[in-house]
Amino acid sequence: MHCAFVVDPLPSLIVHHDTSVALMYAAAAQGYTVSVLGVGSLFIQAGQAWATVQTLQLQARALAGAWYSVVDTQTMALADFDWVWMRKDPPVDAAYITATQMLDLAQTKVLNKPSALRSANEKLYALRWPQWTPETLVTGSKGQIREFVQRLGKAVLKPLDGKGGEGIFFLASDDRNLNSLIEVSTQWGQRPVMIQAYLPAAVEGDKRILLWRGQPLGAVNRIPGTGDFRGNIAAGGRVAATEITDREQALCADLAPVLQAADLDFVGIDVIGGYLTEVNVTSPTMLREISELMQVDLAARVIADLAAT
Ligand SMILES: Nc1ncnc2c1ncn2[C@@H]1O[C@H](COP(=O)(O)OP(=O)(O)O)[C@@H](O)[C@H]1O
Ligand SMILES: [Mg+2]
Repeated sequence: MHCAFVVDPLPSLIVHHDTSVALMYAAAAQGYTVSVLGVGSLFIQAGQAWATVQTLQLQARALAGAWYSVVDTQTMALADFDWVWMRKDPPVDAAYITATQMLDLAQTKVLNKPSALRSANEKLYALRWPQWTPETLVTGSKGQIREFVQRLGKAVLKPLDGKGGEGIFFLASDDRNLNSLIEVSTQWGQRPVMIQAYLPAAVEGDKRILLWRGQPLGAVNRIPGTGDFRGNIAAGGRVAATEITDREQALCADLAPVLQAADLDFVGIDVIGGYLTEVNVTSPTMLREISELMQVDLAARVIADLAAT
């Protein structure tokens, strides 16, 4: 058994935090040879996708420092892997899209499905369920944004291709920087952004629920640090235990058939005060933190299920 992960350069992965690393450990523990590749090493030959991959030896229970060594570098057809897991981080830029188009020619199971990664923008996807999302506008128009903020008093501005809280602004109708924030974020009207009603429940946390094949695996709350309204861990938020409420179970049940039909196997949704704000499909994280809080090895469960199907 041999599997491959498409990831950012290994030194950028944090061994005690990254979900990709947890999945690699689980795969190795279940007898897989684990290889990694960067999108830059993909190539197409005779109509199928290949890559130069590095095969890893994972250090037992490393929580810091050197957690892997490269035991082999070889060129392989992706068809020779049991499955390939695309877990490169955003931005979903031209290079990312090209990689998904090359992965279309992999002739093996690729998750999440490359065509679904192309079509499911992490911010826009949530808007398919208006009954679960806060009031939201997507536009590059300063006039429309100003009208929205003036009507609601407070709002949140999000770039459509960001992650980890990057470029997310709190907008207030009386902020003297409002015009400038809109101009810079929309690149003077050239780039649509998301404007969303500010949910006051955000101070109590931004809940991440991980879904595997539509079923919730578990959840964790991310509480903003002092001096920031964003809950992202990358923006200084802290992890707290939480539960999946009945309302959130109903939300997940509404998403499940759509995610499954799209072959979005592994998804992380963000929920604030019971409202869906984001559907993360590219490289959702927090699996490790949720596993620790639940004292269940969720990565092992996911890999076992993948091996069985
Ligand atoms: N509608 C909202 N109201 C209040 N805070 C929000 C809202 N949407 C997002 N946030 C805050 O901004 C952070 C980042 O937003 P999110 O949409 O998850 O983008 P990303 O995680 O991709 O940067 C969240 O963790 C949350 O703290
Ligand atoms: Mg988020």
